[in-house]
Amino acid sequence: MTDTAGPKISISGVRKVFSLKDEDFVALDHVDLDIADNEFVTVVGPSGCGKSTLMNILAGLEEPTAGEAFVAGTSVSGPGPDRGVIFQQYALFPWLTVRKNVEFGLKVAGVSKTERRERAEHFIEMVGLSQFADALPKMLSGGMKQRCAIARAYAVNPSILLMDEPFGALDALTRVKLQEQLLDTWSREQRTVVFITHDVDEAVFLANRVVVMAARPGRIYDVVDVNLPYPRTEDVRLSPEFTELRNRVWHSVYHQQSGNVAGTASH
Ligand SMILES: Nc1ncnc2c1ncn2[C@@H]1O[C@H](COP(=O)(O)OP(=O)(O)OP(=O)(O)O)[C@@H](O)[C@H]1O
Ligand SMILES: [Mg+2]
Repeated sequence: MTDTAGPKISISGVRKVFSLKDEDFVALDHVDLDIADNEFVTVVGPSGCGKSTLMNILAGLEEPTAGEAFVAGTSVSGPGPDRGVIFQQYALFPWLTVRKNVEFGLKVAGVSKTERRERAEHFIEMVGLSQFADALPKMLSGGMKQRCAIARAYAVNPSILLMDEPFGALDALTRVKLQEQLLDTWSREQRTVVFITHDVDEAVFLANRVVVMAARPGRIYDVVDVNLPYPRTEDVRLSPEFTELRNRVWHSVYHQQSGNVAGTASH
């Protein structure tokens, strides 16, 4: 059963505790967040604040210790074709070529061979890997592997894209190009995107909303609305409004960290 009136994604009272040898480690605590259908949410925060853990819970790969995640009103109990996941560490099948990697999810979904070929071709071209369609992952650079993983996630056409630092390993130009392509895809088709990044500029450039997380325990520290117009062009990137929002998010990330180092509360 789906609830079209409610949020597309709902995270409710999520807590995640990892049991280590001598102690329990609280990776996430009291995480509450609703994400509307077709919203683009970016998540920033220091290393270890639980961003990937939160994404794994949404992907259905980790179970929360307490609380729940919902997709379209249904509790997440495992992975599903409604959620395309791009991992921080590119996860390609090493024995399959770029083309076969991109086609893999389509094959699982029962898409015909001709259509598989066509769709794979389209997305391989989009990420600029046409010349390497028949190459194995070991022949690709880190950035190229990540572009292959992006093509694979897009090809399945899921309504939710969960992206964990997808552009982190890419050079600046490819990164900007893929940011624009992602926004283009997102504005043309109904997609809900949760996008993790270390890059504050990228977080603001892409998002409707930026979620700032803090560590120890991993939690939501701040949520910043980004009321900049789409399409996000170079002009938007250079506007004073963009700079102001970027500074606000940066301040939020920096302040909590300097607060942690000094062991004092903010303000
Ligand atoms: N399977 C696990 N077992 C034990 N601890 C874990 C496990 N997975 C994550 N952690 C711990 O939980 C915390 C959050 O990890 P997570 O990978 O979610 O952080 P992150 O915000 O994605 O960091 P980064 O920005 O470096 O990718 C870290 O301290 C990590 O060591
Ligand atoms: Mg991570």
